[in-house]
This record gives sequence, structure tokens and C-alpha cells, in this order.
Amino acid sequence: MSQASQTPILGESKLLSGLFQMLDPHLSTLDSFLLRQVSSFEEEIREYVEYCIDTGGKRIRPSLIFFSGWQGEGVVDQRLVKLAAVIETIHLATLVHDDIMDEADIRRSRLTVAKKDGNATAVLLGDALFSHAVYLATQFPTSEVSEKVAIAMRNVCTGEILQTMQRGDPDIDLATYRRVIDLKTAELFSVACFLGARLAERDQPYVEAAGNFGRHLGIAYQIYDDLTDLIGSEEKIGKTLGTDIATGKATLPVILLRDRLPPAEATLLRDTLAGKNEADISMWQSKLAELGVIDIVRKAIFREVQLARGAITSYAGNEDADLLYTITELLWNQVEALQSNRTRS
Ligand code: IPE
Ligand code: IPE
Ligand code: MG
Ligand code: MG
Repeated sequence: MSQASQTPILGESKLLSGLFQMLDPHLSTLDSFLLRQVSSFEEEIREYVEYCIDTGGKRIRPSLIFFSGWQGEGVVDQRLVKLAAVIETIHLATLVHDDIMDEADIRRSRLTVAKKDGNATAVLLGDALFSHAVYLATQFPTSEVSEKVAIAMRNVCTGEILQTMQRGDPDIDLATYRRVIDLKTAELFSVACFLGARLAERDQPYVEAAGNFGRHLGIAYQIYDDLTDLIGSEEKIGKTLGTDIATGKATLPVILLRDRLPPAEATLLRDTLAGKNEADISMWQSKLAELGVIDIVRKAIFREVQLARGAITSYAGNEDADLLYTITELLWNQVEALQSNRTRS
């Protein structure tokens, strides 16, 4: 996560200040590894691959991998670097595809591939990135990595397919929403943590605890992202926001709002989700605040953050688990920062 605007609010963590410094050698090694992958692609498409890889993503999933299998400051384990490249490449592929479906123009403060090169190129480039991730995953001595990675890819795509099928349906319920975000986001977070711990040869109970941690953190992160879509600043976040309501996606804040609005306004929101009228985001922003929905969403995020912490609580005092805990603090800081800057640019 970007270091900007982070003020610890859950008590000063001695880890927090040094966190980015600790990760620096790992993330630099990852960046070099990813850039080296460009030459594996046919010459004609290298510039497209490079365009996706060489951007300022937050590298959250790689950070989770390095922390889950932490081996001490300055120790960069090449197995974890390769795993991070696999998971980040899958993530990149999902973003390239997701921006087609969400009709987004900006990603990581640049034009999306779909906007720049068209949907056909974006579909196929995403496929090529997925395939390259699987190729890298087969290079591990154990088949467990490619097995978990392949299942995660299938689940992420399933989550995106379900969401696409549900688009425009104004009556999505909470359980359906949760299932989609579990598949499309939490799965990859979970596999990152699980395999990070596994490749670092940790014992089975910790490997599973790390996987559970990742799942809850992933749910919390997607809810945060869904709130950001409504009340975040495009300039700060670096991607197109406000597309969820406009493209008929009923996320947690939207579902909660729909169920709290007076009947006439609830009908208007339903019609907007169904594509019968233009989305007036600033009006829905005001309603979210007026009806206390932002607070309820924050509580939902906090519940998941606490569940994530609970998953690794018996490992408190171990450096890896403490570092994972610190990631939950960073996320919570972002949630707080989002609420205090409640204006869209
Ligand atoms: C965006 O993920 C997609 C979601 C799961 C919300 P990130 O917020 O990790 O995107 P980058 O990698 O930093 O661009
Ligand atoms: C996450 O959902 C997409 C994936 C898991 C691929 P969003 O559609 O909310 O992600 P952003 O907001 O475009 O990054
Ligand atoms: Mg999107
Ligand atoms: Mg989003």
C-alpha cells in the first residue's frame, strides 16, 4: 500500500514505520523478476505486457507472500519471489479483464489496456498473462503450487462471471455479494498467504492459519474497495471510481443503502442499477452519509479485520504473524483516511 497519508490509529506499531523499508529488497527483486518475464513473450506483444507490469500497483499480494513466509530482514527467498510473480501476474490479468467489464478508463493512474488498445487486445493479453503465470507456477518442484494457483484462477474468474451475470440485478442479497467477493478477491489473498507460508516450510497449522488470515483480509479489502468506489478520490486512488452503481454492480454499500432508503428513493436506486436511468453518484454519496451506511460498512470491514487477526492470534510474537498483523493496521488506516477525506475529485 502506498505510504502516503498513513497515520497509525490502532496504537503506534513499532513495525509500521519500518515496514516499507523491510519490504524494499523483496519488492525490488520482484520488479526485476517481472520485467525479465517480458522477454518470454513474442516481440510484437512485449510492449503491452510491459505496460501492465511496469506500473505502480500496491503489490499487496506479494507483500502478503513475503510476510507470511518471512525469514528475517534482508533475506530474499527466490522461491517467494517467483510465487509473488505468479500471484501478481494473475492479479494483473484479472485487472486487465475487469476493466473491460467495468468500463473503466484509468488503472494505476494510466489508461486501462481496454481503453488504450481496445477490448479484443485486453481480453487476449489477460489470457496471455494468465497462461504465463501458470507456466511459472509449474517451475516449482511440488505440484501443490500449480494446483492451488489453477484453482485460485478458476475461482477468481468464477467470481467475476457471477458478478457479470448479476449485473443490473437490483435485488442482490448480502450472502450473494459475499460469495462473489470471496471468490473474486479473497481467494487470491488466501492463496498468497497459504503458499507464502508453505514455501517457507512453516508447519501445517500456521500455513492454514495464514490462509484463513488472507481470506478474511481479502474480504475486508474488497469491501473497502467497494466503499472507495463510492466515496474515494480518483486522484488519490489512481483508478476510475463511481463505476459500480453506473454499471449495475450492487456492492455492500449499495445493498445497505437500497435497504435503508425510503420507498421512492429505493425504487430510483433499483432503476439506476437496472440501467433505466443515469447514476447520480453525488446524490447517492449524500444518502450514504445521511443514512449512516458508511459507518455500517466500516463496521463490516472491521469485523473482517478482526477475524483476520483472530486467525493468527496464537502466533503473536512470531515475526511473520506480527508482520501480517501490521498489514491489517495499514488497511484500517486506509479505511479511516477514506472516511476523513470524503470528497471525490
Ligand atoms: C484491485 O486490487 C482489485 C481489488 C481486488 C479491489 P489492488 O488494489 O491490489 O490493485 P493494485 O495492484 O494496487 O493496482
Ligand atoms: C475486483 O473488483 C476485481 C478483481 C478481483 C479482478 P473491482 O472491480 O471492484 O476492482 P477495481 O475497483 O476495478 O480495482
Ligand atoms: Mg473494476
Ligand atoms: Mg472496485
